[in-house]
Amino acid sequence: MNVDALFRPFSLKSLNLKNRFVMAPMTRSFSPAGVPTPEVAAYYRRRAGEVGLIISEGTVVDRPASSNDPDVPHFYGEQSLAGWKRVIDGVHEAGGVMAPQIWHVGVMRPHESGWLPSAPFEGPSGFVVPGESGGVAMSGADIADTIAAFGRAAADAKRLGFDAVEVHGAHGYLIDQFFWAGLNKRTDRYGGASLAERSRFGAEVVKAVRAAVGEAFPVILRLSQWKPQDFAVKLAKTPEELASWLTPLSDAGVDIFHCSQRRFWQPEFEGSDLNLAGWAKKLTGKATITVGSVGLSGEFIAAFQGESSHPSPLDDLVRRFERGDFDLVAVGRALLSDPQWVTKIRDGRSEQLHDFTRAALATLW
Ligand SMILES: Cc1cc2nc3c(=O)[nH]c(=O)nc-3n(C[C@H](O)[C@H](O)[C@H](O)COP(=O)(O)O)c2cc1C
Repeated sequence: MNVDALFRPFSLKSLNLKNRFVMAPMTRSFSPAGVPTPEVAAYYRRRAGEVGLIISEGTVVDRPASSNDPDVPHFYGEQSLAGWKRVIDGVHEAGGVMAPQIWHVGVMRPHESGWLPSAPFEGPSGFVVPGESGGVAMSGADIADTIAAFGRAAADAKRLGFDAVEVHGAHGYLIDQFFWAGLNKRTDRYGGASLAERSRFGAEVVKAVRAAVGEAFPVILRLSQWKPQDFAVKLAKTPEELASWLTPLSDAGVDIFHCSQRRFWQPEFEGSDLNLAGWAKKLTGKATITVGSVGLSGEFIAAFQGESSHPSPLDDLVRRFERGDFDLVAVGRALLSDPQWVTKIRDGRSEQLHDFTRAALATLW
C-alpha cells in the first residue's frame, strides 16, 4: 500500500500543513470546570509533530447552556483561554498546527452524573429528539447572542494564535438541530420547510466567525447527515438538496467542509460511490475533509459501547484521495490511542499498529 499521496503538503490561505492527516475533534472531558489542564496541553503536543492539523475536542462558546458536561473545556473566560493558550503554544513548539472546534450542544439529555448547566438547554424548538421536549426554544435575542458568542470565540482563537477555527455544525448539536426538520419547528426566519431555509442559523454563525477572523484565516465547518439521536436521518436526500444546504454555508465563508461519516467508504447517494466529502467538494468547489473509521475495522459509536476495532488497510482511502474526492483525512480513535499512528503509517510499520479498545477513552495519553 503506497500512502505517499497522503504525505503531500497542503496549503489554503494562511494554513500550511505538512501532510493530509487531521486529528479529528474528540471530547475527552479532562478539563474540570471548563479549564484545559497542563495534561490536556501535553496530550495535544504529543501528536503535534506527526499530524498535519490537530482539531481540538469540542470547546463550548459563551452561553449559559452551551455545555452538557462539567469537564468539557470552555472557549471563553480568562482561565479557560489561558489553558488554551498553553495548548496552542505547546503545539507550535512541537511543530504542529491546530484549530479549536467551537461548539454549542443545543438541547441534550442531562450528563450521566446529573450535572446540569445554569440555564435550561436551548435549541430551535426545545426538542431533544423529535417529539420529546428537553429544553427551551431560543428567542430571537438568544439566537443573536449565540451567533455573537461564536464570533467572539473565533476572534479569541485567532488572538491566541490558533491556525484555523472549526465550527461544530454536526452530530445533532445546536447548529445541526436547526438544520434538522425533526427538531426545528420554528416559524420565523430560522425555520422553514426547506433545508436551505433551515441553514440560515448555521450560515449566520459562519458569517459572524468570518467577520471576526478576516478573509485570510481558514474557517472549517463540520457537518453530518447522521445524528447520534438517529443514524438513519439524512438531511439531504439528493445531490440537489445537498447543494441547497451547502451553498449558503459556502457563500457565508466556509473554506473547508469537514464531512462526518461513521464509515468514510459509504456512498452518499445511489448511482455513485462518492462519499459526503466527495459530494461536498464537487458541489461547492471548496476543500473537504473526510472522516470515519479510517484505518480501523469498526465505527466509533460502537466503540463507546465497548466494541474493539482492528487496524485496517488504507487502500480505498488512498484511491479516493488520488481521485480528488477530498483534500484531508481526519483520524479519530487511531490517533487517540496512538500518538505515533501517522508516523507508523508513513513508515509502513503496520505490524506496530494496535487495536482500539474502550480502555483508551479513560486516559489522556
Ligand atoms: C471519544 C470521542 C469523542 C468525540 N468527540 C467529538 C467532538 O467533540 N466533536 C466532534 O465533532 N466529533 C467528535 N467525535 C467524533 C470524531 O471526531 C470522529 O468523527 C469519529 O471518531 C470517527 O472517526 P474515527 O472512526 O477515526 O474514530 C468523537 C469521537 C470519539 C471517539
